[in-house]
Amino acid sequence: MINKAKLGVLVSGRGSNLQSIIDNIEKGKLNAEIAVVISDVKDAYVLERARKRNIKACFVNTKDFKNRGGFFDEIGKILRQNSVEYVILAGFMRIISLSLINAYKNRMLNIHPALLPSFPGLWVQKKALEYGVKYSGCTVHFVDEGCDTGPIILQAVVPVLDNDTEETLSQRILKEEHRIYPEAIDLVINGRVKIVGRRVIKKDTK
Ligand code: GRF
Repeated sequence: MINKAKLGVLVSGRGSNLQSIIDNIEKGKLNAEIAVVISDVKDAYVLERARKRNIKACFVNTKDFKNRGGFFDEIGKILRQNSVEYVILAGFMRIISLSLINAYKNRMLNIHPALLPSFPGLWVQKKALEYGVKYSGCTVHFVDEGCDTGPIILQAVVPVLDNDTEETLSQRILKEEHRIYPEAIDLVINGRVKIVGRRVIKKDTK
């Protein structure tokens, strides 16, 4: 049995993507373990979700630090202390510091609820509806120094229906998020992709 990849998951909210990662690990579909979950929100539901599964869960309070650099240095320290090899951003609502991004270059992933490069940033399901696109979806990408700009690992497409609300569209997208995030993590931790320019190419599996 090859060693399990150690994941550190950063989340600000409910953590349904974390849950799908946990479920995939438990089903044996993802050869990984979650070494630590870190949240910047004290009462985020994700912390309870992690603790219920006996996963180490930490709250890091931005207010305890003079600046953003200090906050992210602390997160980096926790990741190192827990021997984290891959950082998984799952609804973490802060722009990561450059030094942390560099420390986990090509080992930090994010999921975004739109088909990048369309609709980066926040409130993207609302923006997709307002723009009138007929398809939207989700994107898993490596994290670089830009906002939702890193090389794309996987995407999934969903239709936008005439009677969609932000809520119904978000739910349809979320279902796909739960499917492709574990799949993308699996590709990366098993070294099954290479980055060529901006393109993430699946290696020959033979
Ligand atoms: C997801 O829509 C994800 O794409 C975005 O934040 C949301 C997190 O949802 N980055 P959850 O906390 O995983 O339920």
